[in-house]
Amino acid sequence: CRVLVLISGNGSNLQAIIDGCDDNLEADVVGVISNKSDAYGLIRAHQNEIDTSCVIAHEDETRVEYGTRLKLAISKYQPDLIVLAGFMRILSDEFVQSYEGKMINIHPSLLPKYPGLNTHQRAIDASDKEHGASVHFVTPELDSGPVILQAKVPVYDEDTAETLAERVNQQEHAIYPMVVKWFSQGRLQMTDGAAYLDDLRL
Ligand code: GRF
Repeated sequence: CRVLVLISGNGSNLQAIIDGCDDNLEADVVGVISNKSDAYGLIRAHQNEIDTSCVIAHEDETRVEYGTRLKLAISKYQPDLIVLAGFMRILSDEFVQSYEGKMINIHPSLLPKYPGLNTHQRAIDASDKEHGASVHFVTPELDSGPVILQAKVPVYDEDTAETLAERVNQQEHAIYPMVVKWFSQGRLQMTDGAAYLDDLRL
């Protein structure tokens, strides 16, 4: 399974997936695309001899135009699976539809709670006792595709958005490589808007 990872920043999830693929004969990270030229994840890719591309948005470019350029960059890698790992651009509907069932994202909340930004602060402000991360198939509506796997963490009274983010991030590194493995084994599908692992509806 040819895995392409899209990033914008640190790339700690990218690293977890690279490490996971080392133990997974069925999956291979064939490329990393970033929309930021200074993303630390690009260095991680180079250290692991993985090809990289940058697709930087132009100031006056529409979402559709950006999507067209991104598609071209993606096609070079012929991926079976596109993994969004901290990729901070909203993609056009048309773009998302062209990779239906082949693109996954990780979001730092227990979806459907808290789509969008600032999830950790929102969980603290709501006095939630638990928080977490969700891996989901990407569909046109932001952070709303069918959930594949979640990890929960406790929220403590003394937590700040930073301490909570760190706890969630650790769990992300456990669940994201697992989902990539399932996909690479052909066990994961999206059918009629629902996620399935083998014959089990998730
Ligand atoms: C993660 O918390 C992920 O849930 C969110 O962006 C962050 C990316 O972190 N979408 P990293 O770049 O993988 O370290």
